Amino acid sequence: METTSANPTTREPKVLTRQQVEAFARNGYHFPVRAFSAEQALGYRAKLEGVERQLGTALMKTNIKNKPHLLLTWADELVRHPAILDAIEDILGPNLLCWSSSLFIKDARDPSYISWHQDSTYWGLSHPDVVTAWVALSHSTQANGCMRVDPGTHLMEQLPHKDTFAADNLLTRGQEVQVEVDEQRVVDIVLQPGEFSLHHVRIVHGSEPNGSDERRIGFAVRYVPTYLKQLAGPRDSAMLVRGVDNYHHFDMEPRPRADMDPDAVEMHRKVTEEAARILYRGTDRGPQ
Ligand code: NI
Repeated sequence: METTSANPTTREPKVLTRQQVEAFARNGYHFPVRAFSAEQALGYRAKLEGVERQLGTALMKTNIKNKPHLLLTWADELVRHPAILDAIEDILGPNLLCWSSSLFIKDARDPSYISWHQDSTYWGLSHPDVVTAWVALSHSTQANGCMRVDPGTHLMEQLPHKDTFAADNLLTRGQEVQVEVDEQRVVDIVLQPGEFSLHHVRIVHGSEPNGSDERRIGFAVRYVPTYLKQLAGPRDSAMLVRGVDNYHHFDMEPRPRADMDPDAVEMHRKVTEEAARILYRGTDRGPQ
């Protein structure tokens, strides 16, 4: 991978302060930022749980958990929420693609966890200029398994990871970073409903199981500037959410016209199959 080419110091930030942009460059994360009110978060949660009732199954048991913004109008609304895009623009500049999104839901007393890892490991992207907005649709706390980061680790190069395919690990390959994480340094990303955090694609992060009686609902949205390329597959796709794309490195994904619109369902199937080929490359596994 090449070194970062996004230069945050040349522009006047929109929502973050200059100090916060600099702190992100130093620490690899920033939180909390408010996207919308707790009431609006509850509204999004109600829509999400409405889909689960309709389908008769938890979204985490379906492929809808990956890139739901291609299928559900409220998820599309979330990935292009101005408050989120303003913060992302402060770090990555004005021309932005939503490269992917994932729901990370842990039910009450859910043993699911996420091992320590760098997101960059299997994503195949040409530059480490990738920022994830992790949007809380419920409280996210130590008790219910919030995300945790090891500050400053994004400044290290790509570290070796080991695939475990462990049953309760929410990552595609159960990948674990092969370095010791110092618990003394670890920061818990505690968020209120409607707040989000930002994290760098190379920061070492993970999360514990949900030991509480509260369902924890997070929506992770990955943004890239238009100049990035997919290096691990023939072609990748993304959605332009702000500015212009003069590079055309990604096939453009259309917005859903209606929830579970048949054309969108077919496109989502193809896109997530292609993404799985990239994420599982070099193994004999696939999505469960
Ligand atoms: Ni991650």
